Amino acid sequence: MPIADNSQAKRYLKPIHLKGGGVLPNGVLPAPMEGVLSPAFCHALMQESQVGAWITPFIRISVSVPRRTRLIKAIDYFLETKLPLIVQLMGRDPDRLCETAKRFAEVEAVKGINFNFACPSKTVLSSGAGGALLSEPKLMEKIVQKSQQALPHLSISAKIRTGRSHAHEMEEIIPRLCAAGLDLLMIHHRTVNEEYQPCSQRKERLIKACALSAPLPVLLSGDIFNYSDVLECASIPYSTGLMAARGLIKNPFIISNIIESLNQGCEINSSDREKINFFATMLSFCLKDPQKYWSHRYYLEMCRRIFGQEHPIYDDLMSIIIKSRSPKIVMSFLEQKL
Ligand SMILES: Cc1cc2nc3c(=O)[nH]c(=O)nc-3n(C[C@H](O)[C@H](O)[C@H](O)COP(=O)(O)O)c2cc1C
Repeated sequence: MPIADNSQAKRYLKPIHLKGGGVLPNGVLPAPMEGVLSPAFCHALMQESQVGAWITPFIRISVSVPRRTRLIKAIDYFLETKLPLIVQLMGRDPDRLCETAKRFAEVEAVKGINFNFACPSKTVLSSGAGGALLSEPKLMEKIVQKSQQALPHLSISAKIRTGRSHAHEMEEIIPRLCAAGLDLLMIHHRTVNEEYQPCSQRKERLIKACALSAPLPVLLSGDIFNYSDVLECASIPYSTGLMAARGLIKNPFIISNIIESLNQGCEINSSDREKINFFATMLSFCLKDPQKYWSHRYYLEMCRRIFGQEHPIYDDLMSIIIKSRSPKIVMSFLEQKL
């Protein structure tokens, strides 16, 4: 089905060059997702989709700087993929964040450090981290500046929302962060207080955010579910790419679908059957070491999110996971369906 002109949007296929020599092969990326980007999910994405780089889910740095071995353990499954990696840190203490960033900077695959100034979770906000920092622009600035000065040859980026309570807060936040030494910005168009509520101002907010941060590369986040969302993002001047989060869970092939759609100039979507294959690839990974990787709660949640109630396999798969709690039995059920 041919749709709108995609010549502009093809710029999202270009590599993004980071400070220090790291390169993201293109601007179509999986968004960081705590609790979702498990070893099995990442493994299946590597097999089935065209992921070119990762941004890890947040690593909380609160009372102390974790030891190097603990830090490496937190990212080991990303390292195994051999793809460029941006490690996301969340906290509010500039010294501890900087010290942690230095430890990660020694790892070859780590091409950048990203600070999470976006998370709207109540627990995170009550600790003054994540999105709470949007109300403290000077502290955010200090966090970025300190790490940038300590690691002048490493990419330092931030993931933000447009504000804590109002989108106009970005008018102060973005210039401050840029001046502090960011070389990449990731932005979700909602404010923290808006959580995930519907927002009709995505485009105008993102136009403003990209203009405020130009000429820095900017990755857009928020409500990227299909190719027309991609084309809308690409119509925003100075945007360099995008990151899919909920859209990636709903359609684990969204990265390759977007890349192929951009290449071919028409919308490409994977089939429902391919989702079954994806789930089976996750399970086959899990079967290598069920003690370590199996959690029936995680697979129930992923079944709910990947297939949704309308999918013909949904009811049976849910009930097999609940009743058996066994990855082997779930796998043999899926094999019959493939
Ligand atoms: C389950 C889940 C976990 C998330 N974890 C993180 C995280 O660790 N770090 C982060 O910066 N954003 C996180 N996010 C936010 C997403 O990266 C993204 O910015 C947000 O969901 C908006 O994009 P979407 O509309 O494509 O979901 C998470 C979102 C979801 C749904």
